Amino acid sequence: MTITIIGSGRVGASAALNCGLRELDDMLLLDIVQGLPQGEAMDINHQLSERGIDCCVRGSNNYHDMQGSDIVVLVAGVGRKPGMTRMDLLKTNSGIVGDVAEKIRKYAKDCKLIVVTNPLDPMTLVALKRTGFNKNRVMGMGGTLDLSRFKSFISEALGVSRGSIHAMVIGEHGENMLPLVRFSSIAGIPLKEFLSEWQSKEIFEKTKNVAAQVISTKGATIHAPGNAIATIAEAVIRDKKSVIPVSTFLEGEYGARNLCIGVPGVIGSNGVDKIIELNLDEDEKKIFDKGILDVKEAIKSIGLK
Ligand code: NAI
Repeated sequence: MTITIIGSGRVGASAALNCGLRELDDMLLLDIVQGLPQGEAMDINHQLSERGIDCCVRGSNNYHDMQGSDIVVLVAGVGRKPGMTRMDLLKTNSGIVGDVAEKIRKYAKDCKLIVVTNPLDPMTLVALKRTGFNKNRVMGMGGTLDLSRFKSFISEALGVSRGSIHAMVIGEHGENMLPLVRFSSIAGIPLKEFLSEWQSKEIFEKTKNVAAQVISTKGATIHAPGNAIATIAEAVIRDKKSVIPVSTFLEGEYGARNLCIGVPGVIGSNGVDKIIELNLDEDEKKIFDKGILDVKEAIKSIGLK
């Protein structure tokens, strides 16, 4: 068993550390930059060693080394600069993701693939098409991260433990993300019982905009994405059947087809075991459908549809 992480930059390295701290598996960090994955591997091994964790991280510049990996995380590509949207990365990253997906098809043909590169939903489709994998094996990580932000704002507003919050964020991982107040709760008690409409709106907006704020202050989001990747990897490795949002290929669910977008999935050793369809109200559907439109436009512009 090995987890391969392709792209050993900020998010890739954080993903390796987070997977290591959860004692998921041995890991391979891959990158085109000589020395970078090797250096990150040493640094992370030293931290894990002090914690008494025996998961080993190796670094490599050779795709051949990923042979037989059970899980591959695709996080190679360029990130947003301050002021950019995720969609601004479309052209550059679709080339990188397409090339890397070919390598994954060649060297890790049986893996479950977690796509992270932005813009997430179009990149998940590029990876799905270029690997030719069954749809259940290709999952995009976006909603899991958005969810961690949504939860932190709910906890902040209400002064309750983050651990008592159950919530959901679906839709495009981008300008049209959809934090679902109506489907969220504090220990099973509907969130609506605690929040005024104004507070809900404020949390909704903050969840949507906070990534740009982090990028404008420190240049990139790193730790929360690394942890969100590890959450999906853990669900697969431990066959947890966790209900988490992932970008997955829709074939009629939520009234959409032939694209990947964030929806709640049951995640286990087969990847996406099941998609859970929620009965969205008119306002929620409007935002979800706008996300579909924008993702469709993006995939059309890179010649995928
Ligand atoms: P980074 O620039 O720190 O790291 C990217 C790494 O990819 C670099 O080390 C680069 O050498 C490597 N790379 C480029 N082409 C490659 C190839 N063909 N094969 C192997 N490695 C290659 O960027 P960072 O901050 O780690 O972000 C990476 C991507 O993840 C960006 O597209 C960013 O927007 C996205 N992202 C997605 C999130 C999500 O929720 N889905 C959250 C945070 C970042």
